[in-house]
Amino acid sequence: MTYDTEPVTELIRRRKSWRSYRREHLADDLKDRIQGFIASLDAPPFGSMVRFRLVDSPVPEKARTPGTYGVIRGARHTLVGIVRPSPAAWEDFGYSFESVILFCTGLGLGTCWMGGTFSRDYYGRAVDLAPDEVIPAVSPVGYIAGKRSILDSLFVMGAGSRNRKPFAELFFRDDFSTSLSPAGAGAYGQTLEMVRLAPSASNRQPWRVVVTETGVHFFLSRTPGYRRLFSQVDLQCIDMGIAMFHFSSAASSLGITGGWRRQERPPGIGIPDALEYRVSWVPQS
Ligand SMILES: Cc1cc2nc3c(=O)[nH]c(=O)nc-3n(C[C@H](O)[C@H](O)[C@H](O)COP(=O)(O)O)c2cc1C
Repeated sequence: MTYDTEPVTELIRRRKSWRSYRREHLADDLKDRIQGFIASLDAPPFGSMVRFRLVDSPVPEKARTPGTYGVIRGARHTLVGIVRPSPAAWEDFGYSFESVILFCTGLGLGTCWMGGTFSRDYYGRAVDLAPDEVIPAVSPVGYIAGKRSILDSLFVMGAGSRNRKPFAELFFRDDFSTSLSPAGAGAYGQTLEMVRLAPSASNRQPWRVVVTETGVHFFLSRTPGYRRLFSQVDLQCIDMGIAMFHFSSAASSLGITGGWRRQERPPGIGIPDALEYRVSWVPQS
């Protein structure tokens, strides 16, 4: 996938979470382009009903962006993501919202996935949430401030946001006993690197991937207790959806064709107890 501006792989490398913004409204043409992108989005891989709204925040004298518990400073606009819960909704949501986030990155704007530090009531009122809908995450969108606020820097340090696990800890060949190196991954070297660079809640990086003859199989390594902490939404399945978008948009920009399929269980792989199978990417033969 190529956005107007540059290849998706470059956008993935460039995107970072920003929590400090200039207190300015976005130029109308940027707002129009974001709205246009949202309106033109294809259905996500499992066909869930996801929708997005760009909400203007009244930021009065105070720098804090309302509804973010003071975590976000200065942003005048927030992207609000909405989904109707279903078994595949979380991955679909992560997939689609990340495509919007990377579109904003391509416009030179800052964003920050937020699944925890925002008020669901506040943004629910702002978007007239229907009783059968939830807001899994929101993101500020705006012009990045020259300097991160102290709180922003603390978040970056606390989550170890600059670090990613090594390739060999995340990716495997045939089963979980053989680690994969970027060179050993062949055509998938770059697409898996895009998974490795994905943002994830608290930077937990819960994705594990096994490459076999039949496809590329994605598993979740859940952080104990995390599901209970945020019971309304499955943040780590959202992380999985983000990784899926990084993988398949990079694959299509590199001319590697295939598609997503959820199987009963992928054939021939012994699955350790701690891991949960989620989805496979099957190359087109
Ligand atoms: C699903 C999800 C939820 C997140 N929730 C929050 C949040 O509530 N507050 C916050 O400040 N950052 C949040 N983050 C941002 C992560 O901490 C950040 O992506 C991670 O530390 C990696 O840093 P990077 O995005 O700069 O690469 C979230 C990220 C994801 C993917």
